[in-house]
Amino acid sequence: MMNCLQMWPEPIVRVQSLSDSGIRAIPERYIKRASERISSPASEVNIPVIDFQDLFSNDASLRLTTLSLISEACREWGFFQVVNHGVSHELMKRTCQVWHEFFHLPLEVKQVHANSPSTYEGYGSRLGVEKGAKLDWSDYFFLHYLPQSLRNHNKWPTLPTECRELVGEYCDELVKLCEKLMKVLSINLGLGEEYLQNAFGGKDVGACLRVNFYPKCPQPDLTLGLSSHSDPGGMTLLLPDHHVSGLQVRRGDDWVTVKPVPNAFIVNIGDQIQVLSNATYKSVEHRVIVNSAKERVSLALFYNPRGDILIEPAKELLTENHPALYPAMTFNEYRLFIRTRGPCGKSQVESLKASQ
Ligand code: OGA
Ligand code: NI
Repeated sequence: MMNCLQMWPEPIVRVQSLSDSGIRAIPERYIKRASERISSPASEVNIPVIDFQDLFSNDASLRLTTLSLISEACREWGFFQVVNHGVSHELMKRTCQVWHEFFHLPLEVKQVHANSPSTYEGYGSRLGVEKGAKLDWSDYFFLHYLPQSLRNHNKWPTLPTECRELVGEYCDELVKLCEKLMKVLSINLGLGEEYLQNAFGGKDVGACLRVNFYPKCPQPDLTLGLSSHSDPGGMTLLLPDHHVSGLQVRRGDDWVTVKPVPNAFIVNIGDQIQVLSNATYKSVEHRVIVNSAKERVSLALFYNPRGDILIEPAKELLTENHPALYPAMTFNEYRLFIRTRGPCGKSQVESLKASQ
């Protein structure tokens, strides 16, 4: 398994170069099956918006209402947005800006960071290593922030000059917010407030940043910026480009387009929290659509369990009528699936269930 992840099966083509070349028709490799394409115009919706400060209000009933709003969003949507989260808006803006600048640097500068499938760290243009696979209309930069042992500043962009410093500050703030959200989710699940954090490995959790770049696309109806997937890790904090929408979330049989609230983070539950909560919380499928008029940048901070710790449904949540739905597995094992096969809906976490 590891061997096949050492290199890409085909030469890498930067989607940005395709877009910049002015082609009118996208290459066959990016044309999705009809069933995966965007069919009818999706409605734009506001997914639940949570004012994080309400959790610290002097008003006990406001605190409880906020907890239950989050609980409902985790059960019903797998997604919510947070405002008043304590992260500086200026830092958010500058970090987005610096990544826009990074993707507009000359190709040779970015190529220095070209990634490989062994760690995915660096500048990439595909997920998965299956030869001949259909590809998504996006490039990205992926880096490790935690555990500290995997943090290697030399693998982060050297240009723009402020990039490394901003990424460090940004990830630091977001990890703090994730720690708080983990407490909220634990309390809502009826577990001790430290439960999820401890289950993730305490201080040894993982955190990675993926900056997605979706170039303009001449035939947006035929492709996707990111195919349908659920996030394999614990929890994701997404900073979407609030000038251009693109993220779609599955609601039953439909896809709805998320209307981003300025300065909010979109929080979504990943597969590991679905497993730990024994499916009380769902990691919901989502995907990204592209457009012909505007490029889009989004920053996804993935907060993950330590790689070598077993993740399994919390014993406290199991009863005779609700037995464990998933076997124990480490995140290192789990994420090989997406790293090999690329984004494929919820097939992985579902297949675990079927194997029981
Ligand atoms: C992701 C993701 C959504 C977006 O990076 O996993 O779902 O809007 N991104 O870019
Ligand atoms: Ni995602």
